Amino acid sequence: MESQLEQREIVVKVKRYNQEKGEYWQEYKLVVDRFTQMTEVLRRIKSEQDPTLAYRASCHMAVCGSCAMRINGEPRLACKTLALDIVKKYDSNQITVEPMDYFKVQKDLIVDMDEFYARMFKVKPRLYPSKEVVEGRGEHRLRPEDQRELWKFAQCIWCGLCVSACPAVRIDEEFLGPAAHAKGYRFLADPRDTIYDERLKILADSAWRCTYCYQCFNVCPRDVEPVTTIKKTRAHTRFLKDKSEVAKTGEKHVKAIFDSIRETGKLEEAKVYITTYGLAAAITDMLYTMRNGKVNLALIREKKVSQIDQIQKLMGEKE
Ligand code: SF4
Ligand code: SF4
Ligand code: FES
Repeated sequence: MESQLEQREIVVKVKRYNQEKGEYWQEYKLVVDRFTQMTEVLRRIKSEQDPTLAYRASCHMAVCGSCAMRINGEPRLACKTLALDIVKKYDSNQITVEPMDYFKVQKDLIVDMDEFYARMFKVKPRLYPSKEVVEGRGEHRLRPEDQRELWKFAQCIWCGLCVSACPAVRIDEEFLGPAAHAKGYRFLADPRDTIYDERLKILADSAWRCTYCYQCFNVCPRDVEPVTTIKKTRAHTRFLKDKSEVAKTGEKHVKAIFDSIRETGKLEEAKVYITTYGLAAAITDMLYTMRNGKVNLALIREKKVSQIDQIQKLMGEKE
């Protein structure tokens, strides 16, 4: 009972921005209890202390996706974050609140999501059912096993947190980003959808541009696992007729890793690199590594592990 009544005064340090003043920090003090969400903190600051503070929030229950921001540097939904949990986690009464990374700030905690939505709409984020269904002459039923496959990936609320944390979207304009991949795969794998080939063409090249850093997996407030949808989309590349160079290289890379482990039980970096990128590119890169004092790594040859047959058995190569 005692902990339920716990109240603490906290200091909320907000990174603010407007066109006239530029970027600056502002502090607010208020008392919170164990039920106070960070959206409630912001609502009280705005209504009781400073009506000029700008932020987005609507549902207050992790459904609308509008309250994404950084809280103590972590990408979070403000409504899914209790102020006292942050106080306890960081053992400090001061909480910093900043807009999401990567996106252009419009005012205070509000960022421009236009580019995010453009990426999402590139993957045609809706079901394209058959003509019979559209004309009311038929009905598609989803089998429980298909529903189980799609359910997790359909939980995306378009909050943008995964994109804000993704290093690949910052360096590669052709990469659709984790949220668009989650949305794209959700329909690619839906047996009721009728534009599989078109979807695969949109998604396949981009899927090979992810760096597998797992940041999207870590930050998603709905456990969507965008990186898992990217892995699954890569597996569909074999059904694509005209593959891009990026997709072809990606497939070669996966096969080279598989062959290396099957033959030696280890990842032979140099061999995998040559098989993937070709000898000419490998020599150029090897010269670069030699110049940077990493020649040993480039020339290393792995010996087979002693019980290679056990590994081959695990890989389904032997009975
Ligand atoms: S995948 Fe998760 S983090 Fe990314 S936009 Fe959807 S809900 Fe947000
Ligand atoms: S795993 Fe891929 S999509 Fe996810 S954050 Fe890293 S680079 Fe981006
Ligand atoms: S206010 Fe809707 S997700 Fe947070």
